[in-house]
Amino acid sequence: MTSSELFIAIDKIAREQSEKFGQPAPYYYNIAVEKAEMLAKEVGADVVLCKIGAILMDIKLGECMANKCVPLHIQKGCEFIEPILDDLGVDKKIKQVLLDCIKFHHGTKGEAYPSIEAEVVANADCYRFLTHAGTYGNILFADSLGFDQNQNVEFCLNKLEEKFSVLSIEKAKSDLTENYENIKEFLNKCKI
Ligand SMILES: [Fe+2]
Repeated sequence: MTSSELFIAIDKIAREQSEKFGQPAPYYYNIAVEKAEMLAKEVGADVVLCKIGAILMDIKLGECMANKCVPLHIQKGCEFIEPILDDLGVDKKIKQVLLDCIKFHHGTKGEAYPSIEAEVVANADCYRFLTHAGTYGNILFADSLGFDQNQNVEFCLNKLEEKFSVLSIEKAKSDLTENYENIKEFLNKCKI
């Protein structure tokens, strides 16, 4: 199977998950793939693997949101996709790169990334959050958890900081820093 064929196969599986559980919504799904491709070209990573990694990173997010176990979506994503990659005959090295894309898509807490592809995917994920649309999505999510206004603002500020701290690729940093500062200022003014 070529990497383009693998992309098509994984895209189909991931879109089925997204349709079934409503997450990641198509807007966010597409942003991650588009930005992973752009950043991969920027840093010379494998473009198709980065796009597949971006599709896979939150493949179990929808189901975990439905089951109220969002922190488990990384582990569940790896467990879900590993046998599928085996069935598709994906070689061991490529499988590891893709699993690492899922495993480290929220960053590495200062450690080095196991691959440039995992780093690209983690940075691509930030484009879903460090934007006005992404922040509004977060406000709605926090609201669905029953948070009051200040708790909601705090939740969104934490997410903003978490994602800003993940930015390690210069291009992503320069694209998103102004958004980060503007949104942070806005959210701080929303506290009552
Ligand atoms: Fe995630």
